[in-house]
Amino acid sequence: MKTELSFANFAEIETELLAVLAIDTQTAKGADAKPAPVLLTTDEAVNAAAAAVLAGGEFKAGANETLLLHTPAGLKAKRLLVVGLGKAAKATPHSVRNAAGTAVRFAKPRGIREVVLALPVADTLDAAASARAAAEGALVGDFDPDTYRSERKDVSMQKFTAIAAESADQAALGAAFAEGVIVGESQNFTRALVNEPGNKLTPTVLGQRAAEMAQAVSLNWEVHSTEKLHELKMGAFWSVSQGSEEPPALIVLKYEPEGVVDGPVLGLVGKGITFDTGGISIKPADNMEKMKYDMAGGAAMLGAMRAIALLKPKVRVIGIVCAAENMPDGKAQKPGDVQTAMPAAADKPGKTIEIINTDAEGRLVLADGLTYAKQLGATHLIDAATLTGAIGVALGLVNAGAFANDDATYEKFAEALKISGEKFWRMPLGDEYADQIKSDIGDIKNTGGRYGGACTAAEFLHVFAEETPWIHLDIAGLAWIDEARPYIAKGPSGIAVRSILEWVRSY
Ligand code: BES
Ligand code: MN
Ligand code: ZN
Repeated sequence: MKTELSFANFAEIETELLAVLAIDTQTAKGADAKPAPVLLTTDEAVNAAAAAVLAGGEFKAGANETLLLHTPAGLKAKRLLVVGLGKAAKATPHSVRNAAGTAVRFAKPRGIREVVLALPVADTLDAAASARAAAEGALVGDFDPDTYRSERKDVSMQKFTAIAAESADQAALGAAFAEGVIVGESQNFTRALVNEPGNKLTPTVLGQRAAEMAQAVSLNWEVHSTEKLHELKMGAFWSVSQGSEEPPALIVLKYEPEGVVDGPVLGLVGKGITFDTGGISIKPADNMEKMKYDMAGGAAMLGAMRAIALLKPKVRVIGIVCAAENMPDGKAQKPGDVQTAMPAAADKPGKTIEIINTDAEGRLVLADGLTYAKQLGATHLIDAATLTGAIGVALGLVNAGAFANDDATYEKFAEALKISGEKFWRMPLGDEYADQIKSDIGDIKNTGGRYGGACTAAEFLHVFAEETPWIHLDIAGLAWIDEARPYIAKGPSGIAVRSILEWVRSY
């Protein structure tokens, strides 16, 4: 889908569909309270075209509610689509992001291949943030997961144009919109990877896709496999990989902005299990097909690295994805096995891990990934992983989980969430959780029992992050959307890309 920002007189725009946003200004309560939708445009022709139908009371401007007018009087557009942002007080750039997605997803199944969106004008809405959000939302809305249909039903939109009045701050809106395009495309890059089935996207193929992307955006990259894992003594990562015919991939991307020689080095570490059968502790058949998305954390890091390379923040960033397939096999690791993780330093022994459940594999690959990130010089760490079913039990499918060993580092992430609009909820770490993963035979075990599963998994990673400021994102509940929403298709969500990016940009 092509994207463009232009400045024009709205009445003169010739398009299949002109979308305009509206808020619900109704404050009265009770049975006789009438809806009071107000369009967020000062354009007189657009307001006049919609006036009669808005006065009619059938449209409340609820969040992502739509109203379609054909051949609107006084406009050259063939259709006028009004998209609601919800209650006036709650309308934010995040509602604009969703509304732009709603407009695109309204058009797609109707065979409408272009959408022009009038950027909202309101005292309470930052114009640049709205322009950026509109670009993101339109791109995210354009994504559909049916890539392997032999005759694809919903092909991509041809063009999305955001328009603003000629009097608007063109430079500021232009920069913000261009940024939104990069972010939206990066999120979709992640979603396309997450969508791929396990037979198509093996660890090796994920490595190739990462390398192609890195090449395209001028990131330094290396993709290693079995030999390097042995050389680095990555016993935890290898233990997951050993049961698969598919070799592992250790993907390393480096963003090194010119002239930045000191200051923090941010390490982004992603879980890249291209398929998780559970291994010898095999998963039940029901829903096992979903485990193709067990590389969503790794894909989020790749999407974030893509956006970082294009937006060029002044901070060094290392991206690491630990990709493997978790399979049962004659060579697979077994419950009770003891593995030795990568040593934190050449003169130290690696920590030993008692494998209780081979299905708790994500923390194993991440353990070595975190240690390696530190060895490469990372001063601050963030990891993302579809780590536990327990995080969905704790937080529902509403918030993803975030853990951190350092308040100041988490504070920066919390600020990033205000820009990204993604929902993460901070979860606790603590010695009591750490006690649950002590092993009788070695240093730690890879599961902590029935209670607090997301927290004990996080404490497992904490053992390897050690004192380095670190954030852990458990996105298991939100990386895959089971039910479509007006602004996003069902399937891979691309969660965490935007928040990780903004966290990086805060340094
Ligand atoms: N990949 C799963 C977690 C998961 C569950 C992701 C549901 C997405 C949706 C992870 O590897 C796993 O199997 N975790 C186990 C841990 C347990 C064995 C301690 C789990 O959550 O059941
Ligand atoms: Mn598992
Ligand atoms: Zn897994």
